[in-house]
Formats: sequence, structure tokens, C-alpha cells
Amino acid sequence: MGGAACGGAGGCGDVIIRDAIEADLPMILEIYNEIIVNTTAVYSESPVTLDDRRGWWRGRLERGYPVLVACEDGRVNGFASFGEFRAWPCYRHTVEHSVHVRAERRGHGLGSALVQALIPQAANLGKHVMIAGVDATNGASLRMHERLRFEKVAHFREVGHKFGRWLDLVFLQRILDARRIGRGVVQ
Ligand SMILES: CC(C)(COP(=O)(O)OP(=O)(O)OC[C@H]1O[C@@H](n2cnc3c(N)ncnc32)[C@H](O)[C@@H]1OP(=O)(O)O)[C@@H](O)C(=O)NCCC(=O)NCCS
Repeated sequence: MGGAACGGAGGCGDVIIRDAIEADLPMILEIYNEIIVNTTAVYSESPVTLDDRRGWWRGRLERGYPVLVACEDGRVNGFASFGEFRAWPCYRHTVEHSVHVRAERRGHGLGSALVQALIPQAANLGKHVMIAGVDATNGASLRMHERLRFEKVAHFREVGHKFGRWLDLVFLQRILDARRIGRGVVQ
């Protein structure tokens, strides 16, 4: 991956978007656990371990899926990845992605840069649809995805429970190419 200029209000230096390496995992863990503990962006309650993140990272690479990081001044300030949307084989043209930014660097374009970098990677792997599952109260993520031409297609009511309340989950999707379903065309 090459570098990408950082947009957004507040200004910052260059952001490098690149493939994650094993040495990035402690910083990925730090970002992820802060989000688990303090937000409803991830529907988990307990912080995870470095081994958990290592297994996740290796699993993604083994399947040929990207794990990207956004680095500023050598520090990992965000990460993004995608994996299977659902386990059944006929969903194989669809992926679901996740994107997370360090608390103090939110709102400076890192999340957008990461998702924008994932989109061509999904297309190059022959994927047809990308899906984001976003907590309905997560205004920043909803806004970011809508700006990146993801369309809200579903709103599940009270499917999660965290911090003593029910959580609604929104699905947004972006169709990546104009392939039509035709016999023998799409494998
Ligand atoms: C959601 C998230 C990935 C977005 O990344 P980001 O780098 O903050 O996003 P960007 O700066 O590219 O864009 C965010 C948009 O939301 C807006 N926004 C509103 N409230 C915001 C807030 N509290 N923080 C950040 N952005 C906010 C920004 O203004 C911007 O919209 P605009 O460009 O139209 O003004 C990031 O905020 C994050 O990691 N949040 C916690 C974890 C999370 O929600 N992950 C996503 C799970 S689906």
C-alpha cells in the first residue's frame, strides 16, 4: 500500500496506509480494547488478548484478506479489515469490514482513508458487495460510510445488549462493480 494524504478538519501530517505486520498487533490491541471497554461500536464486553488479535490477523491473511493500518509518525492510529459476511458458500462474493481509529485521532479522516483503501482490495479479490454493520447510535461511522457511498439497507432492533441496554444494528452496503448475475459469468 502507498501513502495517502490525510484530510479532515484539524489538519495533520501524512498518513501511511499499509498492510499490518505482526509488530503492529500491540497497538491494534490497544485501540480495539479501548473501543470494547468504552463504546458500543463492538458488540463485546471483555477486552481481548494479544493472542486473540494474532489469531485474527493470521486468519485474515490465510484467507487472502487484508488487514490495513493507518500510521502517523510511526504510530498505528487506526486499522481496518474485511472477512466473510456469512459462512454459507453462496455469500462468497460479499465481505463485511471493520474499521477502528484511536480515540484521540478520530474525526481527522483516518477512518475514511482506511475504508477507501479496502474498497479496491475487495474489488480486486472479485468481491461484489461490502457490508458495514454499525451500531445505530454511532453517528460518526454512519456518516462516514454514507459519505463513502454505502447505503443503509437494514436496521435490526434490539439485537445486541451492552451497558445495560438494547442495541440496534444498522447494515450499510456498497456494490463494488456492475456485474450482473448470468449463467456461467459469476463463479
Ligand atoms: C467510526 C470511525 C472509524 C470513523 O473514523 P474517523 O477517522 O473518526 O472518521 P473520519 O474523520 O474519516 O469521518 C468521520 C465523520 O463523522 C463525523 N463525526 C461526527 N462525530 C464524530 C466524532 N465524535 N468523532 C469522529 N468523527 C465524528 C466527522 O465530522 C466526519 O464527517 P464529515 O467528514 O462529514 O465531517 C472512528 O470514529 C472510530 O474508530 N470510532 C470508534 C470505533 C468505531 O465506531 N468503529 C466503527 C465500527 S462500525
